[in-house]
Formats: sequence, structure tokens, C-alpha cells
Amino acid sequence: MSYKLFIPGPIQVSEKTYRAMTTPVIGHRSKDFVELFQAIQPSLQKLLYTQDPVYLSTSSAWGVMEGSLRNVVKKKVLNCCSGAFSDKWYDVSLRCGLQAKELKYEWGTPIDPEDIRKELSTGEYDAITIIHNETSTGTMNPLEEIAAVLREFPEVIAIVDTVSSFSALKIDKDALGLDIILTGSQKALALPPGLALLSVSEKALKRAETVENRGYYFDFIEFQKNYEKGMTPSTPVIPLIYALKSKLEDIFEEGLENRYARHLRLNNLVREWVSKNGMELLPAPEYGSVTLNCIKNLREIDLPKLNEALKSRYNCVIDGGYGKLKGKAFRISNMGDETDETMAELLSALDSLLPEFAAK
Ligand SMILES: Cc1ncc(COP(=O)(O)O)c(C=O)c1O
Repeated sequence: MSYKLFIPGPIQVSEKTYRAMTTPVIGHRSKDFVELFQAIQPSLQKLLYTQDPVYLSTSSAWGVMEGSLRNVVKKKVLNCCSGAFSDKWYDVSLRCGLQAKELKYEWGTPIDPEDIRKELSTGEYDAITIIHNETSTGTMNPLEEIAAVLREFPEVIAIVDTVSSFSALKIDKDALGLDIILTGSQKALALPPGLALLSVSEKALKRAETVENRGYYFDFIEFQKNYEKGMTPSTPVIPLIYALKSKLEDIFEEGLENRYARHLRLNNLVREWVSKNGMELLPAPEYGSVTLNCIKNLREIDLPKLNEALKSRYNCVIDGGYGKLKGKAFRISNMGDETDETMAELLSALDSLLPEFAAK
């Protein structure tokens, strides 16, 4: 069973990436592992535009999302909530027993930097969580404007999730002054799931040193101690690290600017298809994501049936809406290795199916 994934993660994995994963495993305390770990660091730092270390965590993104909270929150965290994943992050703060407040928006509404300024001005907070690209609603938050506000509050550690945006557009960690950036392997990076990346500033590390009960598996200090030796705290998912190395080669071979331009171009192809078919995006277009589109189901498409036909007749799948948007909006990803041809094939398949499955 193999079909093309146009869902917003996990996404299509290339044959080259799968082949890289079959490289025989090595000891994670061996010289060969240190070479592998250190070989990918410069590319990861380049992709993140940072001098900070990039740790490798054998977990999905939630591991380091929860771990970051446990490492840096001493007083109170402001969780910016505007979709399924950002809402959940607030819940995770509470489950970790932390003082937390949600800065709440309707799904599909971007975070307003002014609201952040107002909240942080109370002096109650020492950390904030932001999801750059809310995958559930296809909304991209204005990170540069948010970061400008955050720089006014140096005591507040920013934890930024770039799970579905990392490497698809420029996110200049150091210039923006962002303390923690994290991402997962199965979205914009087009790797199978199971590996998370985490880049942590000196300031965030210093904070972690003063926080009790950080636990072990996601302890920043453990990550840093091992990073200095070219290693990870525990046995990592070595096949995915080989896959990451291979993907980084692909990314730099294509060139970052070309990669960013490709994502934008493919994303626009879908947006053109959306307007041509009398539909619209859930977020205002200027806040629409560049890695996926979340489209209001204005034509009353029977999404489960459409997806079944798409799969059986065209070997593709899209997403029929996440959480409370199920059936009301659908999502099409253009992340990873998608090309003009693969997107055109999907859109033409959808064109041929719409008359059959759209009520309007
Ligand atoms: C923006 C965002 N953050 C976090 C997650 C959680 O990732 P994972 O399930 O890999 O832990 C997702 C998953 O879809 C996501 O889209």
C-alpha cells in the first residue's frame, strides 16, 4: 500500500531518503557517530541562521514542546492559542503543573503582537510559546513582528514551534532573537516521523540550569553536555539521522532561495485552484501558510468520499479537516519535495473529482 501524501504531515518521503535510512547502524558512542553528528551541525545551523547548537531528540515534536516548558518556565508561561496544536500546548503546560495563561484567538486568526506586548507588560511571565505555522488551520503567524515585541522583554524565553514551516522559508533565529526553535522530521523536512530538532540559546540554557525537576529525557543540560562531545544523551534514531544528512544535502543542492521560492510557487498554484473553484482559504490570504492551504469547504464536498476516490483512482490523499474543522475545511500540503508536476497532477485529479463529490 503506497500512495502520495498531500496531507500536512507525515508527507511524501523520497526514495533517496529511504535508502539513506538503510545505512547500517553504528554505535552511538563511536567515533563514526561523532563524525555523523558533527557533519550535519553546520548545515542545521545554516538552515536556522543560528550560532546556537541544534540538538537531536529521538521523539516527535511534542517531546521537545513539553521538554522546553519543563526546562525554562519558573514563573508563568503565556501560551498563544489559535488552533489545535497551540491550544494543546496550553493544555500541556497545565499537565506539567505550570502556571500558564492562554492568549486565545479564533482558529484561523493570527496572533496579534500588540496583545503579546500587553500581556508581557504585566511582568507575570518568564516564557511564551508560539506556533509559527498553525498546521491545523493553515495559518502563519507574523513571526518578525512578534519577535520585535519579544525583544522588548529579554526576561521572557520564547519557545517557537516551526514544525510545519522549518526550511520552507527563511526563519532567521539569531537576527530575530528567538531563544528556542523546535521542529519535527515528518513535515517540512520530508523525513519519516521520529526525530525532533531543537536549537537553544545560551540564555535559555542558563535559565534551565536554575530550574528544578527538568526531568532527564528532554533536559537541555544533558543535551548540551552531550552536544559538546558530538553525541546525544541517549541512543538516538540513527537511521533518521542518516536520512537527515541526506535531506540536508538535497536542500543545499537545491539552494535555500530556490527552495523557498518553490514552496511559495507551489502554494500559489493551490491558491489559484481554490479561487478558480469558487472557494476560499480559512485564514486571511496574507496570513495563509506557505506550506499548506486550509480551504473552507464552501462547495459542500463530501470529503471522505472524495478522498477515497482520490486514493483509489489517483493514488493520492489530502486531509479532510483537523479536529473541529473536520468536514468544514480541508487541507492540501505542498511541503517537502513537491514539484510543479506533482502539484499539477493532484489539482487535475481534484478537478476531475469535484463535479462528482461537490454538492454546490
Ligand atoms: C505545528 C505543529 N506542532 C506540533 C505538532 C505535533 O507534532 P508531533 O505529532 O510530531 O509530536 C504538529 C503535528 O501535526 C504540528 O503541526
